[in-house]
Amino acid sequence: MAPSPSLPLLLLLFLFAAVAPASSDEPKEKMTHLHFYFHVYYGGPNATTVTVVSPPGSSTFGSIAVGNNILKEGPESSSMLIGRTYDLTVQASIESPSAYLYMLNFVFTSGEYNGSSISIVGKEVVGETMERTIVGGTGKFRMAWGYTISRLISSTGTTELFLVYEHDSYIYHH
Ligand SMILES: *[C@@H]1O[C@H](CO)[C@@H](O)[C@H](O)[C@H]1NC(C)=O
Ligand SMILES: *[C@@H]1O[C@H](CO)[C@@H](O)[C@H](O)[C@H]1NC(C)=O
Repeated sequence: MAPSPSLPLLLLLFLFAAVAPASSDEPKEKMTHLHFYFHVYYGGPNATTVTVVSPPGSSTFGSIAVGNNILKEGPESSSMLIGRTYDLTVQASIESPSAYLYMLNFVFTSGEYNGSSISIVGKEVVGETMERTIVGGTGKFRMAWGYTISRLISSTGTTELFLVYEHDSYIYHH
């Protein structure tokens, strides 16, 4: 008698049946879209980003900056504060002096998400719209994943810069 080809199939069906009810008990994942503005002061006495490592020679490759930048509801400096960043920027491209590795922690300090945070890793390219990865979160954003889109919308000053980025976060979490 030929071996029955349906036995492995039956076994698979049985396994699926055993697994399916358990997964439907898990909390449902939701998506939160946050739209806000990211304010950076560079240079001067009230800088929120400072360069802490300058590589030798004329190349900027390997320079490192630390930021404690400001998250606001709107693009104006007078608009409502909603959080701060704890971030690290590393100039990590030999070919392009304007490309950086960017690691950010957004910590929200107002409203529904007060005390919650998201962690983001990605690239910073001056002048481009940037997509980055949300790699985790805390509080209401525990176990978060997702992506962010940001772009520079204004840059004022020369030696003391004030930069404003428009920022969208698409956060998947429980
Ligand atoms: C820096 O901050 C202080 C305190 O908020 C303020 O009085 C001062 O005008 C600021 N300086 C600049 C250059 O923005
Ligand atoms: C955010 O939470 C902290 C700690 O619980 C609290 O002290 C603070 O007043 C809250 N801020 C707002 C704007 O609700």
